Formats: sequence, C-alpha cells, structure tokens
Amino acid sequence: MKAVLGMTWASWRTVSLVALWGAVGGWTMAASPPTDAVVCQSSAGEWSAACLRQRYAGTPDTWPRPTVDAGITWQELGLVPEHAPEPAGNPSTPAKVELGRKLFFDTRISRKGEAACVTCHQPAKSFTDGKALAVGDERMQGRRRSQTLFAAPFSTHGMFWDGRAATLEQQVLMPIANTFELNHSIDQVTASLRQLPDYRPMYEAAFGPREPRSDDVAKALASFVRTIRPEPSRFDDFLKGQSQALNDREVLGLHLFRTKARCMNCHSGPVMTDFQFHDLGLSFYGRRNQDLGRFEVTRDKAHLGQFKTPSLRGVSKAAPYMHNGIFPTLIGTLRMYNNGMGNVSGAPGDPYVPRKSPHIQKLGLTEAELQALLAWLQTL
Ligand code: HEC
Ligand code: HEC
Repeated sequence: MKAVLGMTWASWRTVSLVALWGAVGGWTMAASPPTDAVVCQSSAGEWSAACLRQRYAGTPDTWPRPTVDAGITWQELGLVPEHAPEPAGNPSTPAKVELGRKLFFDTRISRKGEAACVTCHQPAKSFTDGKALAVGDERMQGRRRSQTLFAAPFSTHGMFWDGRAATLEQQVLMPIANTFELNHSIDQVTASLRQLPDYRPMYEAAFGPREPRSDDVAKALASFVRTIRPEPSRFDDFLKGQSQALNDREVLGLHLFRTKARCMNCHSGPVMTDFQFHDLGLSFYGRRNQDLGRFEVTRDKAHLGQFKTPSLRGVSKAAPYMHNGIFPTLIGTLRMYNNGMGNVSGAPGDPYVPRKSPHIQKLGLTEAELQALLAWLQTL
C-alpha cells in the first residue's frame, strides 16, 4: 500500500520529465545523478504533506534521492556516531577526557586569566560565542568567527575554517599561543599544571606519575574535543523512526534541504558537512576585510576564497553565521543562498579573483519553502 502511494507521485513525474527532456534532446548520459526532487509535488508546485510523510516514514536509505551534482561525494544524513576515530598515538581514556574537560573550562590557561576555550566555544551556543569575530584574552579581537565544534571530532581534511591544522592534537595548542585567543605559551600552561594542586591527581590518573609535558596537554584537550556531540534533537528522534517528531512543515524542509535547495551537495552525513572547502563568494576580495581562506594555507589558486563547510547540527543556536559572522540570522542566510550567495569581482584578467563554487546556484525557493527549510534547520 505504502509503495503504491509513493509510486503514483514519483513515477508519474519522473517519467513525464524524462520524456520531455528526451523529446527536446537535452537528456544525455552525462547528466547529474538521478534525484527525486519532484517527488510529492503537483505540476502546479503544491506539496502533498501526506505523500512526503509516507516517503520519509522509513530509514534514511529508503528516502527520496537527494539532488547532488555529478562528481559530488555525499553521505546520507544520520545519527551522530558515539565514537570518533582516534589516532594511534592518543587512544582515549576516561581520565584523559576528564583532564581535557577541566582544561577546556579553565581560564587559568590564558595569560591574563580572562579567557578559556569555553569563552569562545560555549556549549549553549553550539560551541560558538555569539560574536561575529572572536574575542580572546585582554579583549583582543580575531579575524574570524569561532567555529562550532561538532565537525571537529570527525574532520578528515584539517581543522579551522582554512584547514591549516592537520589534526586535533596540533589544533588545540594553537589557540593557547594565539595572541588573539589565549595569548599564552604551552610551556607556561604546562608549568602551571605542575603547580596547581587540583590538577595533580587528574594528571596522574591520565598519564601516570610523571611531570606534566606539553604534548600531554594537547592529548588531553584533543581527547575531550573528540567527545563533543550535538544535543539530542527532534531530528534524531525522527531518524530513529518516530515519524511524529517532525511536523508537516519540517518534513517539507528536510525534503527541500535534500533536493530543491541543493544543500546536500556540501552539508551531508551525520554532522552535515563534507569536511571540504568551498567558495561561497564571501572572501571580500580586494577589500579591507579580505580573507582568502584555504588559499592562505596552500597558495593554490584553486583554493582562493574557500572555507571549510561547517556542521549544521545545532545551527539555530550558532548565530551569527559564516567565517566572518556577516549574516546575523538564519533566515537571512537562507535568503542569501536562495539568491545565489555572495559575489566578488576583480580587474579583468586578474588571476587571483576567487571563483564561486559551481554548486552554488540561485534556488527559486518560494517564501513558504524558505520558512519550511528554516523550520527544519531549527529542529537540529
Ligand atoms: C578567542 C576565542 C577562542 C578561544 C579562546 C579558543 N578558540 Fe577555538 N576557535 C576560535 C576561532 C576564531 C576558530 C576559527 C579560527 C580560524 O579558522 O582561523 C576556532 C577553531 C577551533 C577549532 C576547529 C574546529 C573545526 O571544525 O575545524 C577547534 C577544535 C577549537 N577551536 C578548539 C579550541 C580549544 C580546545 C581551545 C582552548 C585551548 C580554543 N579553541 C580556544 C576561537 C577561539
Ligand atoms: C558548495 C557547497 C555548499 C552548499 C551547496 C551549501 N553550503 Fe552552506 N556552507 C558551505 C560553506 C563552505 C560554508 C562556510 C562559508 C564561509 O564561511 O565563507 C557554509 C555555511 C553555511 C551556514 C552557516 C553556518 C555557520 O555556522 O556559520 C549555514 C546556516 C548553511 N551553510 C546552510 C546551508 C543550506 C541551508 C544550504 C542549502 C540551501 C547550504 N548551506 C548549501 C558550503 C555549502
């Protein structure tokens, strides 16, 4: 019965589209991978809530196929795994995680004692700080926005907006020394660990009876960051099969995210990122606040203006958005996507003008569709 209802909508639309494209000669074998974008939509553009509910009733592998461009590697949405991969040199132990957690929340690891990791990565704000640009010890302002930490445990192509740290063990030491963050030195932090009596038993439980070493600090912090997970959400309940966890509008939002809005080209998998770098036209090329992103690390022109795709888990609490925090609201961000995002230009023939990703296109979402997409993102 279920299959029959799904078939009526899906196959009719697919068949008629293929026939039409075939007739005008626009359909070739090199076309984009198949998608179920038009599932449950009437030819007048109206969505059938009952049909969508039925198509999304099963596990994600039975959901309508997403709209992704040829050549894109994507992963199905899903529950965030409990365990993140660990490097051989730093297997996780409960004692290391506890030590890392204490360090993460401790302002004594900054030079003036004014900031800790948690200052910029606050759990209630999806591990961001609510600011467009991060502010650290001695109120120094950095040049980028604090990232959420939901992607970091699983990142495969480097840490930071530009991927300049290869591993979490390398990454966690950088904010300690960064003038705009904790403005301290790892040796001083390690020295205070030796002095602070409350750390002694925790340190020994994690690393045994020896004097604290700087790579131990990195290992403990990295072990803690690897345990950071988004809070359980209504979308997780939906993924577990509780179909009433999302209302009709939210289910439509999920479908649009996967299809017409094209988001799955980059935000896919359990933490909703491909861990890759893309240019959305937000590099402010040639202007005072120019940021060339990944290019600044690799010096490869193909990487001009590219930034790491952020996780969208907990996204409604992570405002303002983007590497430079330029969009104050989530709906504003969606409107920018609908209009094809930002634009940069330069002198004709200038080889350094960043080129916007071809996967970013005008979307033609209606106001009701934008609101549905927003409603769904808010369940994450
Ligand atoms: C002053 C604010 C500030 C402080 C303090 C701070 N961070 Fe960050 N964090 C940032 C900013 C800004 C970025 C992005 C920087 C960039 O891309 O250049 C970032 C990025 C990260 C990332 C990369 C996430 C990813 O997905 O690539 C991790 C992990 C991280 N911070 C962990 C920490 C830890 C651990 C500490 C404490 C030792 C810390 N941060 C202290 C602001 C801060
Ligand atoms: C071409 C890949 C790509 C596509 C397609 C894409 N995104 Fe993104 N998204 C990114 C990248 C890269 C960033 C960060 C860009 C920057 O900071 O300059 C980003 C940032 C965001 C942010 C800001 C999150 C934060 O913490 O700053 C939101 C929200 C978002 N995307 C939602 C969406 C939605 C919804 C769609 C579909 C309408 C979508 N994205 C489509 C790559 C993509």
